[in-house]
Amino acid sequence: MNVLNRSGRIISMVAVVLALGGCLAQAETRPAFGVVADIQYGDKEGSVLRDYRGSLKRLEQCAETFNSQRLDFVIQLGDSVDGYPTNAPGSCADLDQVLPVFNRLTAPTYHVVGNHCLNVGTNALALKLGLTNFYYTFSVPTAKGWRFVVLDGNDAGYGVVSDRQLAWFRDTLGQAQAAGEKVICFCHFPLLKTAAEHHRMAKPEEILKTLDAHTCVAAWIAGHEHAGGYARQRHVHHLTMRGLVEAPGSTAFARFELAGDRILETGFGNEPSRELFLGGASAPQTRRLSFENGRVWPDDKGVHINAHGGGVLFREGAYYWYGEHKIEGKAGNLAHVGVHVYSSKDLTNWKDEGVALKVSDDPASEIATGCVLERPKVIYNAKTGKYVMWFHLELKGQGYSAARSGVAVADAPAGPFTYLRSERPDAGVWPVNVTEAQKAALATVGQMKGLTFSGGPNPDTPKHALLARDFAGGQMARDMNLFVDDDGKAYHIFASEENSTLHLSLLSDDYLSHAGTYVRLFEHRWHEAPALCKRGGRYYLLASGCTGWAPNAARAAVAPSIWGPWTELANPCVGVNPLNRLGAEKTFGGQSAFILPVQGKKDAFIALFDIWKPDNAIDGRYVWLPLRFTDEGFAVAWRDTWDLSVFDQAE
Ligand code: GAL
Repeated sequence: MNVLNRSGRIISMVAVVLALGGCLAQAETRPAFGVVADIQYGDKEGSVLRDYRGSLKRLEQCAETFNSQRLDFVIQLGDSVDGYPTNAPGSCADLDQVLPVFNRLTAPTYHVVGNHCLNVGTNALALKLGLTNFYYTFSVPTAKGWRFVVLDGNDAGYGVVSDRQLAWFRDTLGQAQAAGEKVICFCHFPLLKTAAEHHRMAKPEEILKTLDAHTCVAAWIAGHEHAGGYARQRHVHHLTMRGLVEAPGSTAFARFELAGDRILETGFGNEPSRELFLGGASAPQTRRLSFENGRVWPDDKGVHINAHGGGVLFREGAYYWYGEHKIEGKAGNLAHVGVHVYSSKDLTNWKDEGVALKVSDDPASEIATGCVLERPKVIYNAKTGKYVMWFHLELKGQGYSAARSGVAVADAPAGPFTYLRSERPDAGVWPVNVTEAQKAALATVGQMKGLTFSGGPNPDTPKHALLARDFAGGQMARDMNLFVDDDGKAYHIFASEENSTLHLSLLSDDYLSHAGTYVRLFEHRWHEAPALCKRGGRYYLLASGCTGWAPNAARAAVAPSIWGPWTELANPCVGVNPLNRLGAEKTFGGQSAFILPVQGKKDAFIALFDIWKPDNAIDGRYVWLPLRFTDEGFAVAWRDTWDLSVFDQAE
């Protein structure tokens, strides 16, 4: 065992004695440890997202939090300094700022060596960290039956483990297995792409083979990829911790509790919380306790949720998330499967409930394979007991020219839904806010024959009488949403008139058709992706501008009645998505899809966005963020990781 600092050790002995004293009272106190990764402190300028200098302050706060808890040890996962490749003394000086903070920890501390640490120089590093070897194993008396193994990911080059270390690793695991111990491995480098999208160990194969061969290994906990990640492969939970250096304005560290059949991770700041079950393949699926924005979001089978442009319905104790099932590649933007549905009780863990509405093999069907079927939404009709789905439909082979609304119905929330028909809404009816000039234009619509429009913002479009043009055949309907008011009345809101103007249209009592009452909103403002909610008697709209799959700035509006008058508000988004470095001007890379009312919490709404990947549609990501209401409207602030408890906190 490597003792890292004397004072830490002495204090820890005292802590052990005290713990023993209170042992009877704390009979069921579980072993626990703290982990922090990629502090990467440096007395130098960073950037908005990579904040070297501020990392020290965050580490101090992290130490304070750790000291306020009962922990058996604290470990840092390497790259505690950023360092300077050609300036070892400078790198050393930075390390000298970091280590005293560790010395303040009351729990014993352990260090993992990362690639940046090497800027200090191997000898100086070993001396300062109190390590005779960068790979070692330790156990703590309070965590009976557990062995902790620290690996050196650089002893044969950057991200390469030597054969000598590998042999030692195999031996160590062999012994642990024979002794009936459970093992947690700590290394700077993650091993799996599914747990770290961009940065990993250069040659992880032999290590992975060794892990596979030893069922005693419970977890591989790493850093290096500051965005973090998680995957389970066979019996091993692969955790990549978020980096402290990339948590300005927040933090990133975690407490792990060894709780019999599971490991409980409690994340702080950007680091999420999870419940990791032990026991190999038969163990229950990992329970996610946090939303993790912009990342792969696995369902109960470990597959990325495939419900894009979606919406959520709450029925009889469960949430149902419906969305576009996409396939790989550009072809994935067309409907090859249909509408996928997932169910959940807690909004973070989703069970695959299959395809709720299948596209048809019959080429004559309006929803034939290869059509465009977007932004499906489902509402429940209490009068008929039916589940009603509406979606944006484009007929196969006709690009985006059809601009129709499809409707399907089911007896159960997960379907199967039966396709009924499609239409262009509100044929032969004028909106409630029609003008005499718009009506008069009916006489001249013949002159518009053959005119085409791009579907994007265009100064010419407002010159044409599109409302009158589509009066007889029904209004165009593309990006859409549904909203059910407290009185059970349902509304369909959609981008109409070549995407230039939103229409909000009342549905019939059975929700299966349009009732013939509608209003034009935000004329020639090119709102897309509309989503509505109601709070405190006011109606709120979230929407996007009109730039296809490319992100733009979000739009917002508020009204005292659903029919208006609607007042446009400023862009509600605040902050930056560190994964793509996109901020409010690009809605964090996303486009709105829905506003989800959280059950059992007052005024709690989540704004749902899609980060589209038009080149590989199936890889589209989700961003779910809490709405915070203000006097004027609402704000949607970026959060890397969060959970529903934010709704319980005072604003
Ligand atoms: C977006 C729209 C998507 C999809 C896409 C096609 O603006 O919100 O649902 O229709 O355009 O380019």
